[in-house]
Amino acid sequence: MFEDLRGRLGSRLLRTFEPETAHQLAIQALRSGVAELALMPVPFAPKPDDPVLASDPWGLPFPNPVGLAAGFDKNAEVHDAMLRLGFGFVEVGSVTPRPQPGNPRPRLFRLPEDRAVINRMGFNNDGMTAVASRLRQRRTGGIVGVNLGKNKETQDAATDYEKGVALLAPLAGYVVINVSSPNTPGLRALQDPALLTALARRVRAALNAAVPAGAPPLLLKIAPDLTPEDREDIARVALDEGLDGLIVSNTTIGRPEGLRSPHRDEAGGLSGEPLKALSMEVLRDMYALTQGRLPLIGVGGIASGADAYARIRAGASLVQLYTALVYEGPGLVARIKADLARLLRADGFSSLAEAVGCDHRRESP
Ligand SMILES: Cc1cc2nc3c(=O)[nH]c(=O)nc-3n(C[C@H](O)[C@H](O)[C@H](O)COP(=O)(O)O)c2cc1C
Repeated sequence: MFEDLRGRLGSRLLRTFEPETAHQLAIQALRSGVAELALMPVPFAPKPDDPVLASDPWGLPFPNPVGLAAGFDKNAEVHDAMLRLGFGFVEVGSVTPRPQPGNPRPRLFRLPEDRAVINRMGFNNDGMTAVASRLRQRRTGGIVGVNLGKNKETQDAATDYEKGVALLAPLAGYVVINVSSPNTPGLRALQDPALLTALARRVRAALNAAVPAGAPPLLLKIAPDLTPEDREDIARVALDEGLDGLIVSNTTIGRPEGLRSPHRDEAGGLSGEPLKALSMEVLRDMYALTQGRLPLIGVGGIASGADAYARIRAGASLVQLYTALVYEGPGLVARIKADLARLLRADGFSSLAEAVGCDHRRESP
């Protein structure tokens, strides 16, 4: 209770700063341990997750299905602190082979009236060598996925993903090929079926070479802005090429009707509440198109236990969030987990896995 109040006050205080400065302050506070001291009950005693929330897609032990989406911890600085805050897994990145500064600031905008964010960061990150050395220093458990991107100037995109896989796959719980950020020119074109097939083959070969025994699962993160044909093509390639899962979805370049914030016409990807319906629809479609054969991670506008539960029923094995954390603070994670456990039990499910995709089955509760 108190932790939640402190978390809400902390996030409200952070929102008085320019958005990117606020993010940097949050990362510093988490890195130094100040945030944990401020948020945790004393003495610090992490509460174990409700067993109904545990699942093991790809044979990996997820204590709960609520993950931190890519972009918050781009440089693998605070993944363990975020796991201690209660996330069931954390995705770091997007990471590119070489460090790069990203787009000029300002490039991150809050849309508080819409519970949304627009960003055009452009893969600012410290590069894969720095991220690898931080991941090598990990001493605790917990699943950390690595999300890979390409450098802005790279012409042959696949070489960048190959490099990322070669260095980072041995350190990753799972690997993500991100072909869906709207802020790197040409990136989303890699979702075209021919290009995607070639990319998936090269990355798979690099993955098998980097981790010959027990390679981590290989996931593809897709955009929400896809026509029905695009979705069919991606599902087919994912199944044919043996991808292990899909993350649905990245931010949207669309601007749904009714946005109220003055920043609504800033260029970049929109996340948060206005993305919710679209990413839910694409998730539902992708589950149907892949016949429930691939674990999916649902992301986009999730801000409550009910949102997480709806995504799981529509086909997500796991969920992620970012934007809601900006508005709700870190106590949100515990609230989502408690509400989700209650909703699962109320519908008679004794495990999360039973509920995955149940909306697609007629006899479901
Ligand atoms: C500031 C910001 C930076 C992001 N950076 C990345 C990134 O580097 N790679 C990526 O795959 N997604 C990135 N995302 C997208 C999120 O991972 C997520 O897919 C999207 O924001 C939708 O979830 P949400 O509505 O819960 O924020 C970023 C999002 C935000 C708001």
